[in-house]
Amino acid sequence: MNPDALSEARAYEMLHEKSISPDDRPVFHVSSRIGWMNDPNGFSFYHGYYHLFYQYHPYRTVWGPMHWGHVRSKDLLHWEFLPTAIAPDTDYDKNGCYSGSALELKDGRQLLMYTSVQKESQPDGTIAEFQTQSIAFGDGIDYVKSEHNPILTSDLLPAGASTKDFRDPKIWRDDMDQCYYAVVGSILADSNGAVLLFCSDDLIHWSYVSTLEESRQEYGSMWECPDFFILEQSAVILASPTSMYAKDLEFHNGHNAVYSIGSYNRITHSFTRREVRTLDYGLDFYAAQTMLSPNGRRIMIGWMQSWDNCHKQPKGCRYFGMMTVPRELFLHNGYLCQLPVRELSDCHKNTIIFRQVSVSSPIELNQLKGRVLDMTIQIRPSKDQLYDHCFIHLASDGKLRTTICYDPRKSILHFDRTYSGFLYDLIAARDVSVRNRNGCLDLRIVMDRFSVEIFVNGGEQAITSVIHTPQSADRIILDAEGTVLMDIEKSDLNITI
Ligand code: FRU
Repeated sequence: MNPDALSEARAYEMLHEKSISPDDRPVFHVSSRIGWMNDPNGFSFYHGYYHLFYQYHPYRTVWGPMHWGHVRSKDLLHWEFLPTAIAPDTDYDKNGCYSGSALELKDGRQLLMYTSVQKESQPDGTIAEFQTQSIAFGDGIDYVKSEHNPILTSDLLPAGASTKDFRDPKIWRDDMDQCYYAVVGSILADSNGAVLLFCSDDLIHWSYVSTLEESRQEYGSMWECPDFFILEQSAVILASPTSMYAKDLEFHNGHNAVYSIGSYNRITHSFTRREVRTLDYGLDFYAAQTMLSPNGRRIMIGWMQSWDNCHKQPKGCRYFGMMTVPRELFLHNGYLCQLPVRELSDCHKNTIIFRQVSVSSPIELNQLKGRVLDMTIQIRPSKDQLYDHCFIHLASDGKLRTTICYDPRKSILHFDRTYSGFLYDLIAARDVSVRNRNGCLDLRIVMDRFSVEIFVNGGEQAITSVIHTPQSADRIILDAEGTVLMDIEKSDLNITI
């Protein structure tokens, strides 16, 4: 145990962040201050700022003993680094402060709730890991861990549930029931991943309420980073299941990010599932968390990376890990839809519009280029004649490119970064089945130097991926087999770091 872990991390990041040029960071996506970043934590609004914490290992660009890094913003786009919030500096969390959430308390303090991890050598030579939930109170900069920690322990788990995989509390206050609730991920005795609901009157004493959702032998093992909220009268659970098997084009092997949509009975505390779907179909998306903004928007942010795809890193990088653009959630046609927060549209500049562009061979349009942009493209067949494929090549220099290809007959959208210039890419392409609209397709594409986020058909589906392509590759090339008509609107973004 290192009681100085927090002050050491704070000193280290102050000293070493200078080694990263702002040119090497995304402009409006949160990136690690120094070293490694994974899950978003404690996404919340507190005393006039949006706060975001993140799983953080400052000392290396690979995962290690987890701290909570910290940023804040007035508009969800301009982020300011704050000192490390918490560090593994007590007996009960000496092996890491894992993921969790934040809440403003009635007395004006900000509460952090996180998973405290402790590993102990056993008499038989093995190492046992214990995951418990702990809390800390703070003022938006400095946090003090509770003397009652850990406050939510494995003895509260249903019989047989895993004490090692018991993590990622998402807390909220229910004013109607006058208590705090938290969902926590675990693995049940029958090896199904589950989202467990707990409640407390005073944040110190907790009890188990119900099992809200389970993987039911279908959706992987441990459900990491659960979230639960009501959106337009439907109940929504977000989770990131590990060890999932691929199913058609909906789920892929390995770590997935899913949403389960259904209804919630407030009396019995039971959730009835209608459907489980993928939350984002890209190569880099995991561990999403939401918050409720002061004006009632449900806003989600995710880790723009995946465990299956993060083990090779660009040479010489001093930070590794970014978050997605924050996204507003809403329901439409039974889908959980997502679009970038409206603040992004307020930052548009140099907007250019092209209408009825007829594309049947590779073309580039005047000023249609860039690596930091927000662009909508509406695609439709020309004269009712269905085209075979339509292509949008981004981040291109003629040779390098990241490609979106649409096949209107199969209604499959293909994302491919094989030629994005990154040598060590295990998974470089993905096919996504999208709603068939007879050759019509609406895309919104948000780019920020090292990433491409695609929102399909008004946000019904999202496809998020990182690209390591040199910034000089900024051309956008449109192409088709057959003829398509495109309406395009592209804006640069007036955001400075
Ligand atoms: C998800 C996760 C969480 C855990 C954290 C550790 O990415 O595995 O379940 O709390 O990362 O960094």
